[in-house]
Amino acid sequence: MSTVNSLLAAISGEGRDAKRGGYSRPVYSDAEITLREWFIAEASVRGLEVSTDANGIIWAWWDLPGSAGDDASRKGSLVTGSHLDSVPGGGAFDGPLGVASALAAYDVLAAREASGELVRNRALALAVFPEEEGSRFGVACLGSRLLSGAIDPVKALNLRDAEGNTFADIAAANGLDPARMGRDEKALARIGDFIELHVEQGRGLNTEQYTDAAGRGPAVAVGSSILGHGRWRLSFSGQGNHAGTTLMIDRADPMVAAAQLVLKVREIATAQPDARATVGRLEPVPGGTNVIASRVDIWLDVRHPDDAVTALLVEKIHGQAQKIAAFEGCSVVLTEESLSGTVHFDAALSASLERSVHRLVPDAPALPTGAGHDAGVLAAYLPTGMLYVRNPSGISHSPEEYVEDADAEAGVLALADALEDLL
Ligand code: GLV
Ligand code: MN
Ligand code: MN
Repeated sequence: MSTVNSLLAAISGEGRDAKRGGYSRPVYSDAEITLREWFIAEASVRGLEVSTDANGIIWAWWDLPGSAGDDASRKGSLVTGSHLDSVPGGGAFDGPLGVASALAAYDVLAAREASGELVRNRALALAVFPEEEGSRFGVACLGSRLLSGAIDPVKALNLRDAEGNTFADIAAANGLDPARMGRDEKALARIGDFIELHVEQGRGLNTEQYTDAAGRGPAVAVGSSILGHGRWRLSFSGQGNHAGTTLMIDRADPMVAAAQLVLKVREIATAQPDARATVGRLEPVPGGTNVIASRVDIWLDVRHPDDAVTALLVEKIHGQAQKIAAFEGCSVVLTEESLSGTVHFDAALSASLERSVHRLVPDAPALPTGAGHDAGVLAAYLPTGMLYVRNPSGISHSPEEYVEDADAEAGVLALADALEDLL
């Protein structure tokens, strides 16, 4: 039986990023494809029936004994899983921990069924969702958004990566039929409940209210809610020109405008309780040391528990961007790329998760998170819930993201118990 740690060790060499550090595994890159193949091989060797659906989601089915494995017998099944793509220079656990834990939890449950300890009433599927981070095509949770119909497939197919490839082209190159992508009623009907285990991405489990005398928090938490969040692109346009011949007073430099806005974003978000706003990506065009840029695109990520406040924050930032652009002789255009409202996980499912997890981790708290997940997108369509595994560094989307082996093992057992109670 593989352990979650041996499963993660097997993929630890894939997609390492020598320049940024950590891992860069954008969807349908060589590294992510290798990880998808790894998952398919691990599921197949366990005798699970594996298929990739029209939206690129991989499903590995543990059907009920004697069942035909058809749509009727799989309706309302229990599903667990996560994603294998990463942010640029990300950590080893965001996504892969949930996928490896799903495989390891299956191993625990299969052994319990073989010993007669577990009798199931429904099938279990392990799932891998593509482009959860949106780090290649810009929209996070693209697989679950397509599956549920939360995004118009035409919009999704026209998204472009940094090289200008459309999502349609890349999907087709990976064996998918763009014409078939979009809301999938049959696949949705097969999901009765979805549970996603994930590395905790902040200091939630390390806060004083949860830590013991040694300063150690519980290994696992149950998710309660996800902060509303969205992404916007602000394009500042000015006059591209020569760095040496253009007098300072003659410039319309969009980089100077963008730099001022970055500071305003911090000021505006700091003044609003519970708000988070980030500029993590900036692209000057054409991008030369001795060239005044003609355009600078910056990407804005804004999060707040109250969706109306999120909208207000973006409005304020846009207003400041317009003022700054005018002062600098530039113009600015704001484009919304994605928006997800605050999500509260299904109350009955979360209560069931808490009861199950408390058998193993009696002090496991219910935790909100500021990070987005496929379980958040799917929550609008079916009952979803999440488990988080302690991250001692509290750091994520960085090579320093960390999970201790013992906590990862505890996460698997907690997930297995939670799944058993729902099967
Ligand atoms: C995904 O991890 C996000 O919250 O952006
Ligand atoms: Mn994730
Ligand atoms: Mn992430």
